[in-house]
Amino acid sequence: MTKAFVPTMGALHAGHIALVDRAHELADDVVVSIFVNPTQFGANEDFDRYPRTLDADRALLAGRAEVFAPSVVDVYPPDNPPPVISAGPLGNRWEGASRPGHFDGVLTVVNRLFELVKPEFAVFGEKDWQQLALIRAMAAERHPNITIVGVPTVRDLDGLALSSRNQYLSPAEREAAALIPAVFRQIAAAGGTDESIVRGAAKLDHAGIVLDYLDVIEPATFEPVRGTGPARAIIAARVGTTRLIDNLTVRN
Ligand code: PAJ
Repeated sequence: MTKAFVPTMGALHAGHIALVDRAHELADDVVVSIFVNPTQFGANEDFDRYPRTLDADRALLAGRAEVFAPSVVDVYPPDNPPPVISAGPLGNRWEGASRPGHFDGVLTVVNRLFELVKPEFAVFGEKDWQQLALIRAMAAERHPNITIVGVPTVRDLDGLALSSRNQYLSPAEREAAALIPAVFRQIAAAGGTDESIVRGAAKLDHAGIVLDYLDVIEPATFEPVRGTGPARAIIAARVGTTRLIDNLTVRN
């Protein structure tokens, strides 16, 4: 029997379910973990208010996957704490620059969950592009027998990437947030030029959306890129108090 694993923090939506569906194509058994990982949240972030909907999540997964919902002590036993995994230099860029220590927390928990679940496959969303890259690198080193599989981002009708954090948005903020995929489409259509990025940033600013970053990068090295070759637009932005991230292919 082979096992495919889908790590999540719960508050499940159709993006998570797309990962579960992909997992079923890969293996006989599918395990979904639901664990709001304290070590990947900064002191001033939303750990306390992060949506916790375990009953609804279990109902959604019934008949679809086995649920693994460990406690903090299960994941981080005080007498035998798991190793802290450093994300290295890429862990300090983009998301990591905005959220110091975030990716160390992600890699630490994913490494620990891999040891607890022992899957053959693990499925992650491209929505968190930098997270996916760092997990691939961590797994290649520490879990060479686990195949990491990425799944394209699932979007709402207006293009906004589904996210557990979208439920923080007021109706007006939700409407404004749709500018993010709209700006991405324009940047991609323009081929990721400087001008398209500046124009996109101004449009978001005008709508009161505060950028942490908006750029076009080489998808593997995360170095800014213009002109030719593979490219991906990346964004982190605050709509009201809600921080959203997204990314989109500019060139394959
Ligand atoms: P969470 O935000 O719950 O996301 C769990 C998985 O779902 C991640 O692989 C994420 O990329 C994917 N996902 C989220 N929204 C998606 C969308 N709209 N389309 C496709 N996939 C989507 O990411 C985490 O939790 C945590 O950092 C975790 C890896 C579980 C470690 O704690």
